[in-house]
Amino acid sequence: MSLLSKIRCAFTLGQGLLLENKALIESTNPFDFFSIWLKEAEKSGIILPESMSVSSVSAEGRPSSRMVLLKEVDNKGFVFFTNYNSRKAYELEGNTYAALLFHWNMLQRQVRIEGKIERISQQASAEYFHSRSRGSQIGAWASEQSQPLSNRQHLIDRVHYFEKKFKDQEIPLPEFWGGYRVIPDMIEFWQGKADRLHDRFIYQPKSQKWEISRLNP
Ligand SMILES: Cc1cc2nc3c(=O)[nH]c(=O)nc-3n(C[C@H](O)[C@H](O)[C@H](O)COP(=O)(O)O)c2cc1C
Repeated sequence: MSLLSKIRCAFTLGQGLLLENKALIESTNPFDFFSIWLKEAEKSGIILPESMSVSSVSAEGRPSSRMVLLKEVDNKGFVFFTNYNSRKAYELEGNTYAALLFHWNMLQRQVRIEGKIERISQQASAEYFHSRSRGSQIGAWASEQSQPLSNRQHLIDRVHYFEKKFKDQEIPLPEFWGGYRVIPDMIEFWQGKADRLHDRFIYQPKSQKWEISRLNP
């Protein structure tokens, strides 16, 4: 860790007075609270603060994790985009429970999210797909994500093939590509504090409301 990072950590340790303000926590839904933390992570200079781990479980009960980018958060859930034929997609559609994890090191914060997964609408996927660069749209067509690749040239050949195929036209949304939304039934906010006396609290939905409870660190 560089000296600068150490200094920043020292400054931010114990930050999060917000968590001690129970009234404020209770008046905020977890999505708004999450958005406040994400904005603070963006401001802190952390690279790719929207990157998160997504975990799935195979039919055999074997968990696996990988990083993806959070692209949207609203009052329904957390959205990321991927290939619907990928390993994660097969696992998430077989066992529809997912876990997301954010770690914002300089702020000494962690957010854990668990819940059910659903595909977002094709229209919403198409809107996002078309907002991406042409190169990234072609990349989505070319990559048979999670499948074995005999050599890199094969992937590059596929890029050239799709570049030619869609030359001078709008690139359509591949039917095997789109967004997933994780609809949380548990969100835990963790704020690092001195002497391991960290702050943890969880939101869980109960009778149309969010119930908030604290956990020991
Ligand atoms: C910072 C970061 C962000 C990533 N974002 C995405 C993403 O948004 N969507 C995606 O499909 N893969 C993303 N990846 C690649 C995945 O981690 C993973 O390699 C890929 O999705 C295949 O995973 P799977 O075989 O388990 O399905 C990202 C990787 C990193 C390191």
